[in-house]
Amino acid sequence: MINRDQISNLRKLFIENYQAGLKKEAGIKPSEAPEQKVPGQIRGLQQKVSLARGELKAKPPLHKSTATARSIAVTSGKGGAGKTNFVANLAIALSKLGKKVLVLDADLGLANIDVIYGLRPRNNLFHVITGQKKLSEIIIEGPAGVMLAPGGSGIVELANINEGERKHFIAEMSELENKVDFILVDTSAGINKNVLCFLKACSEIIFITLPEPTAIADAYGIIKAAAAEDPGLEQKLYLIVNRVSSEIEARDVYDRLAMVSRRFLNISIENMGYIFEDRVVPMAVKAQSPYILASPGSSAAECVEAIARKMLNIDTDKTGANSAVDKIKGGVRSFFYRIGELFN
Ligand SMILES: Nc1ncnc2c1ncn2[C@@H]1O[C@H](COP(=O)(O)OP(=O)(O)OP(=O)(O)O)[C@@H](O)[C@H]1O
Ligand SMILES: [Mg+2]
Repeated sequence: MINRDQISNLRKLFIENYQAGLKKEAGIKPSEAPEQKVPGQIRGLQQKVSLARGELKAKPPLHKSTATARSIAVTSGKGGAGKTNFVANLAIALSKLGKKVLVLDADLGLANIDVIYGLRPRNNLFHVITGQKKLSEIIIEGPAGVMLAPGGSGIVELANINEGERKHFIAEMSELENKVDFILVDTSAGINKNVLCFLKACSEIIFITLPEPTAIADAYGIIKAAAAEDPGLEQKLYLIVNRVSSEIEARDVYDRLAMVSRRFLNISIENMGYIFEDRVVPMAVKAQSPYILASPGSSAAECVEAIARKMLNIDTDKTGANSAVDKIKGGVRSFFYRIGELFN
């Protein structure tokens, strides 16, 4: 058994080593180096302790990454809350605002962003992981220049590949990550290991709920599960209320969820907006033509456009700098690096 003193020594040792490494990497002499507290510090410490307990084997870093994209997972407790339609249309709205967007369809059961876009991808991440295709061969272009990486069952395979394959995959994906502004991840509904992994890997999480009590209760359930999986949750969290009949209804749902999350989980969630109940949504699904393009000016399209604009202006300060986004970019490692680590 490891005792408290040993843990304390390990902690000291780790921090000293880490800071020495930082100084060396930055070419700073020890006396010039600022004291830094880094997000991965605690995780590194936990691994050190686990190593001392003989629970883990030391693993070399997979890939030196430079995070540039904002990675955003969209999830809900209850199925059918509108994740896939929201992601498909938000990607187009962001793209129309000049952003490069990659959509990752991580709904492992029923991948259907491609259906909403009217596309029929023949390959998915599974083919990249198994070496049958290059990443550039599976990514297809959707409406308004949105890039779609069909996930299929591919993501689950990450758990079963060897170190070399994983390194190759992450290196390839990370290169792509440096070329886009947003990675939007459409997850499947419910609380399961895969969904929680994606939530952990992204720099931001959007919870989407319907205004009905069962959906709100399930939304609280997934927020709670995400917090339990990742104590101290570093990500920015947002809520969107879908299929509302009024702004007041949306505000009421947000107030209730934000209040219980703050009181019982000590988590703060930002209000990202709402989407009106609108018949153009199912019509667009049937026509396989996203409503933001097929029905511009509809209430659903206007809501999603408002959300996209809000996402680009979060916490804009007086100088015009987007402080929250800068913090997100600088504060977390790249999405694919984290995914590789979590599925390790
Ligand atoms: N704002 C809206 N107005 C009217 N209908 C909507 C709206 N948003 C979604 N829908 C409808 O709700 C249904 C579920 O939507 P969607 O497939 O996007 O949900 P999901 O959360 O991705 O579901 P799943 O959990 O199965 O992946 C669809 O039939 C869609 O047309
Ligand atoms: Mg879906």
